Amino acid sequence: MTHFRLLTQNPHEEAAPDDQLAIDVLTGLSAMPKHLSAKYFYDDTGSEIFQKITQHKDYYLTAKEVEIITNIKKQLADVIDEQEIDIIELGVGDGHKSQLIIDGFLQSGCKVNFYPIDISEKAMLMLQENIVPNDNLTIRGVIAEYFDGLKLVRGQSTNKQLVLFLGSNIGNFNREQSLGFLRKLWASLKADDYIFIGYDLKKDVQRLTAAYNDEDGLTAQFNLNLLSRINKELGANFKLEKFQHFGVYNPVLGAMESYVLSTEKQEVYISALQRAFQFEAYEAIHLEYSYKFSTKDINQLSQQTGFKVVKHFTDSNAYFVDSLWQVAKEDR
Ligand code: AVJ
Repeated sequence: MTHFRLLTQNPHEEAAPDDQLAIDVLTGLSAMPKHLSAKYFYDDTGSEIFQKITQHKDYYLTAKEVEIITNIKKQLADVIDEQEIDIIELGVGDGHKSQLIIDGFLQSGCKVNFYPIDISEKAMLMLQENIVPNDNLTIRGVIAEYFDGLKLVRGQSTNKQLVLFLGSNIGNFNREQSLGFLRKLWASLKADDYIFIGYDLKKDVQRLTAAYNDEDGLTAQFNLNLLSRINKELGANFKLEKFQHFGVYNPVLGAMESYVLSTEKQEVYISALQRAFQFEAYEAIHLEYSYKFSTKDINQLSQQTGFKVVKHFTDSNAYFVDSLWQVAKEDR
């Protein structure tokens, strides 16, 4: 009997999500300037606060996108003109906007297979409750990362596919990440499939700033909740009252930037990391970019990633655009 044993691990297994949070917090708070990733906003509390933000008058994005979709849902189904379609939504919200788009197709006599893809099981359960059953509609929720989910759906059907990425979620990516994301989408789809993406437009700075500094402090709560999440999940001792939310537009980047600032010199201990982090008075932690777009930016993104723009749909204030693109591939 040998006393030597190799410990092997499935090479495809990634770090458990909890470890990933710990590693990302360690990396971000050790950096200069400090930063944390916006993807960690959405624990149960964060998702609840975000839902409230989308209904707040200062956060115009959701209302404007709902206006667009309500007005063009019939036209969208007419332009796409299929008997049966797969609608694949990346990142599910409360299902309100999905329902509108599905309605447009059902009303045109098109059968719909709806595949919401999200990493959160809880979000999926919420969504299910908000989609109205219909004989011409099937719903198959996929709990997975976007591109794993897409691959799974692709393997199930030969219908034309329409991928939804709503709410200006693409705004959390910088330009390089957006190009990467769109190219991966392109590679996952067949020629002539469609994508429908929401973009928040560049606009008056007051309007932008108000959307990320709402009157009722929901955005402040949303950002500070990330610190409470770290308190809960990593045993940290952030004192929320000693941090301040700051949302500001960077016109050179074309992005809203969110920070929390330490209002005094202090130390925060994180027991899962067995480490303390020092904050100077008014030192910032960067939390989020929300990029804003011009029509030219949107056209350039499509040109550089192999899509052709079918149509831009906008609202009565030209605050937001939902853009319909089609996959262009060469058969040789
Ligand atoms: C969900 C990423 C589109 O950036 O506007 C809302 C998140 N952050 N208020 C956005 C958010 C602050 C939102 N996205």
